[in-house]
Amino acid sequence: MKSGAIAQPSCRVVVLISGNGSNLQALIDYPQKQYVISQVISNRADAFGLQRAQRAGIGTAVLDHKQFSSREGFDGELIRLIDSHQPDLVVLAGFMRILSSGFVQHFAGRLLNIHPSLLPAYKGTNTHQRVLDAGDRFHGVSVHFVTEELDGGPVVAQAIIPVNEGDTKETLAQRVATQEHRLYPEVVSWFAAGRLKIHNDGSARLDQHVLPPQGMQFNTEQTQVKTVE
Ligand code: GAR
Repeated sequence: MKSGAIAQPSCRVVVLISGNGSNLQALIDYPQKQYVISQVISNRADAFGLQRAQRAGIGTAVLDHKQFSSREGFDGELIRLIDSHQPDLVVLAGFMRILSSGFVQHFAGRLLNIHPSLLPAYKGTNTHQRVLDAGDRFHGVSVHFVTEELDGGPVVAQAIIPVNEGDTKETLAQRVATQEHRLYPEVVSWFAAGRLKIHNDGSARLDQHVLPPQGMQFNTEQTQVKTVE
């Protein structure tokens, strides 16, 4: 590098979306990021996140799952499309598709997802209402490595919020989203800096420490952070 030149982030990220793309926006806006978003891919042409990417000068592509007769066919084409951008990391940001094992195996160790619950609680959809129905006192968001088990891969980090008197699924969704936007860029930055890895034994490790089952926990509305043991 010439003296005076600014080092370019070397971690290439492809982001997959299906809709609004507010997490994508947070990844775009994160200051001093050590990653570069090389492409945003959506399975829906009307995903608002595509406009966010275009506004930020990031290339976009649409691969409509309805054009394929099988999940494997769609996932195979998606693999080819993603690979053409040679990413170091694939980030699922509201990508509402169940992924085939072939897809997950292809990107093993470099595939992250964000899920609006404190995993392993409330895998699947409708998490905010389910938390309310159960009368839980806490809710939150998890970032995890993706494995073949739906919403089941090793958790890297969680942000916890209290469920307050009078909360509705809308207020919970809003407060969870705020935490998602803080947490996801930070975790992606850990990966980009080479600090976060999945080990052969299946454990997620940060700075070579095995992460606990709940990952790094951020008790957000008190801003207290538990460290790795
Ligand atoms: C986010 O809340 C994310 O956690 C959730 O979809 C939303 C996408 O919002 N993902 C899942 O439920 C995956 N199981 P966004 O499009 O505004 O980023």
